[in-house]
Amino acid sequence: MPLPPLDPAAQAHSDRLRQLIHAVIADAGGAIPFSRFMELALYAPGLGYYSAGSTKFGRAGDFVTAPELGSLFAECVAEALAPPLRTVGEGAVFLEIGGGSGAFAEAAILHLDALGAMPARYAILEPSADLRERQRERLRERLPEALNARVEWLDRPLGEEEWSGVLFANEVIDALPTPRFVIRGGEVREEGVASAGDGFRVVEVPADALMEAAVRHVERDLGVPFADGYRSELLPQLPYWIQAVMGRMQSGAMLFIDYGHPRREYYAPTRDRGTLRAFHRHHVVDDVFARVGLQDITASVDFTALAEAGTGAGFEFAGYNSQAAFLIGNGLQQRLEAQEARASNDTARFALRRQVQQLTLPSAMGERFQAMGFERGVPFEAAFLGGDLSFRL
Ligand SMILES: C[S@@+](CC[C@H](N)C(=O)[O-])C[C@H]1O[C@@H](n2cnc3c(N)ncnc32)[C@H](O)[C@@H]1O
Repeated sequence: MPLPPLDPAAQAHSDRLRQLIHAVIADAGGAIPFSRFMELALYAPGLGYYSAGSTKFGRAGDFVTAPELGSLFAECVAEALAPPLRTVGEGAVFLEIGGGSGAFAEAAILHLDALGAMPARYAILEPSADLRERQRERLRERLPEALNARVEWLDRPLGEEEWSGVLFANEVIDALPTPRFVIRGGEVREEGVASAGDGFRVVEVPADALMEAAVRHVERDLGVPFADGYRSELLPQLPYWIQAVMGRMQSGAMLFIDYGHPRREYYAPTRDRGTLRAFHRHHVVDDVFARVGLQDITASVDFTALAEAGTGAGFEFAGYNSQAAFLIGNGLQQRLEAQEARASNDTARFALRRQVQQLTLPSAMGERFQAMGFERGVPFEAAFLGGDLSFRL
């Protein structure tokens, strides 16, 4: 199916962002790392994909995330996170990273409240001012005042403040600006972006020491060097990002859900062009330089790297599931039955069944999306009893 044409306002918006990126490239002497290009394309203030006002989420946007399908996903996550919240007790904080449209927060808060596990503070760390505003509006309209009053927004991590509770991120790590590497004559090179007329082209620059060390670490772990010309993504900054978002968390649980693979599959010899792709109006777009600012750019998550980063930050590994196993292990059937009992007609019941299929079928989100958890001084392993994937890490 061909992509729909851009309207003139969208085209003008994209042109402004392209000009900004061309100026940044010129200031940098002709090339910027790919991660810097991705950062500008997604997060340049007022112009980047996540910073500006396009619809993005849901059927009218570019992609559908699990919380956008309905409230079953958020209710199961709330079921999983209620025990650690109860163990932390009074003063617990729920820290949601990257709140999207606010759909997750709305459903999770209502269900945590129903479970008697809603903490006094629900903080949403959201770098996009536009999304913060949309989340605020949605929760103000849809939550009872007493619950809405417990929600706060952060534009940066909690910093030096000591806190305990739970940290949750769905489809956030895939949106972190990622560097790309390529192997040339046994050397690690980093991909950069240069201007090419109105558009952009890939150039190669020497990798810095952090990137080189991170690629060599992956090769050692895999037991074989990458073949010449092998190209992929790698997030050397992931451990620092985890430590930044957790801040001075004393005790609690962390849960990450995203699409990705264990390292051995991520860096399989056949996946020699990486996992980077773009989304526009529900189409997968291979050209990440097209429609700058109007399409999402994303790379899959290396779950082995996430396990290393979480345990490196001083947490115990709690478990690793497919999304399907995680949701089923955290009450999906019971949540479905509860919602079906309240559904007013067959159309609503059919929609609920369809939601379950999209969340769990291997051909939809069930296997491609995976959940990984960490704990510190709280019980969280029980949330992963639905099916263990950790032998693949
Ligand atoms: C693909 S959306 C997912 C939104 C939501 N979690 C969902 O599942 O619908 C990515 C979200 O992460 C946010 N984000 C991106 N980089 C971030 C960062 N460094 N820290 C926190 N949030 C970030 C984006 O602004 C956006 O809200």
